[in-house]
Amino acid sequence: MMDVLILGANGFIGSHLTERILADTDWNVFALDLGSDHLERFLDNRRVRFLEGDIAINHEWIEYHIRRADVCLPLVAIATPATYVRDPLRVFRLDFEENLRIVRQCAKYRTRVVFPSTSEVYGMCEDAEFDERTSPLVCGPVTKTRWIYSCAKQLLDRVIIAMGRDEDLSYTLFRPFNWIGPGLDSIHAAKQGSSRVVTQFLGHLLRKEPITLVDGGAQRRCFTYVDDGIDALMRILRNENGCCEKEIFNIGNPGNDHSIRDLAEAMVRVLGEFPGYGETAAKARIEEASAEEYYGKEYQDIVHRVPSIRRAGEVLGWAPRIGFEDAVRRTIAAYVAPGAVDALGSGDDDVC
Ligand code: UGA
Repeated sequence: MMDVLILGANGFIGSHLTERILADTDWNVFALDLGSDHLERFLDNRRVRFLEGDIAINHEWIEYHIRRADVCLPLVAIATPATYVRDPLRVFRLDFEENLRIVRQCAKYRTRVVFPSTSEVYGMCEDAEFDERTSPLVCGPVTKTRWIYSCAKQLLDRVIIAMGRDEDLSYTLFRPFNWIGPGLDSIHAAKQGSSRVVTQFLGHLLRKEPITLVDGGAQRRCFTYVDDGIDALMRILRNENGCCEKEIFNIGNPGNDHSIRDLAEAMVRVLGEFPGYGETAAKARIEEASAEEYYGKEYQDIVHRVPSIRRAGEVLGWAPRIGFEDAVRRTIAAYVAPGAVDALGSGDDDVC
């Protein structure tokens, strides 16, 4: 039995994690978020205590629950690259300043923190696979505001590690690599540049608008299905025999390393499989734009990004199971054919 505090519980990772905790454990969830649309079906559960609130305002509630909880996951952050360019100070205030306050309180009250670092900390690292403890973290010049998110998360990683050493903060850092799945972003809000690439493309496809490949779409990502990510996160929370204490884990699927062009083509193909969407897929248009045209001149892209998941395998006994096309299919199904996701099975067929 454990009390888990999830700040940002209504978000993509938070809502999937809440669902899994309620299904697989007897733990309590203390949850805070600005909204509750992804949590509606859990709000009557007596193991959930939800506050509709803001981490920048509801300080007393947060401090009280940090003190009470066994573990805190501060998941509130802006995570869309267009916002890093458009509104870097908002990213700094929320992703860095607000989260620093929470991490300090975790140290003060001796509450374990499981902190979402990010694949973005590696930036333009040239290693074939990014290693949590040895890969260099490579950001562009300070005039490229795109890197403010990467730097904010990196500095928090460093603060947490220092607090672990000097103030005995109990922590685990995890770095999601392009997790995708139902609820990633709202497709209705997916105007150009407003969300991450999968929801961005899906919103355009469903509205019969062209998809834009930035700089030709040769840049690559390792798309990781959210259920695989949550499997790893549950192992981190269980923390058998303290195995995750002061650890850092990349949580991604190196077998799903694909270009953004591959992604666009796979999404069109898979959408066409769903009843009623054949014509939409057949008429899909793929256009190209330069990064400067699409995001502005303060953007820089990441050409490749592959995690080493050796550590997660050794310590957590974890490996991702859902392959690329299956992950795309499950994500699209959640938007165009809700209910079809369960029928797609467990994914064991597609081990990477
Ligand atoms: C993301 C975000 O920074 C965070 O959500 C997160 O920390 C991290 O990566 C992660 O999920 O691992 P990025 O992968 O660059 O960064 O974000 P996306 O918006 O999903 O873009 C992926 C790629 O698609 C980029 O190369 C971008 O230029 C391209 N793209 C995006 C297009 O070609 N067209 C679009 O319409 C949108």
